[in-house]
Amino acid sequence: MRRLAATVTIISTGEGGERQGMTATAVTSVTTDPPAILVCVNQSASLHPVMASGTRFCVNLLKDAHAEVAGAFGGKLQGAARFTAGEWSDNETGVPFLTDAQANIFCTVDALMIYGTHTIFVGKVDEVRLFGDIAPLIYQDGRYIKAS
Ligand SMILES: Cc1cc2nc3c(=O)[nH]c(=O)nc-3n(C[C@H](O)[C@H](O)[C@H](O)COP(=O)(O)O)c2cc1C
Repeated sequence: MRRLAATVTIISTGEGGERQGMTATAVTSVTTDPPAILVCVNQSASLHPVMASGTRFCVNLLKDAHAEVAGAFGGKLQGAARFTAGEWSDNETGVPFLTDAQANIFCTVDALMIYGTHTIFVGKVDEVRLFGDIAPLIYQDGRYIKAS
């Protein structure tokens, strides 16, 4: 899988006013009708219980300048302290989003499938916000690289 380059994302939730977030690359589109994407979350991740409750969440597509933010949400920082990395705001439903991400894809959990150590969550897309140019942060061969 080191040879499967992937755009780095952060999955963020704000259920009950509590911010949680996690770096994820196991993210892909599912359907355009309805607009839906999937996210694979380890059952050991602190984000897993809130995702399993059927929460609203945001998939923040990181840009090439966000390697440090990805590291913070990938385990360098814990809990709400992760949100001190990068510029975050809350949408009208209380879901935190990275304001200068390439895109913020706001979803609600619509289906899930447990497989091995992970749960595959399908999120129905509620709203999309785009920002700036297309300049993804890519994870490949165990490190962050720029697309060009
Ligand atoms: C580049 C990168 C991609 C990751 N992708 C995923 C992923 O798709 N799914 C997942 O469950 N964990 C993934 N992780 C691991 C989690 O981000 C990490 O284990 C995180 O610390 C889990 O949150 P927790 O410490 O709050 O439990 C990834 C980590 C990195 C650095």
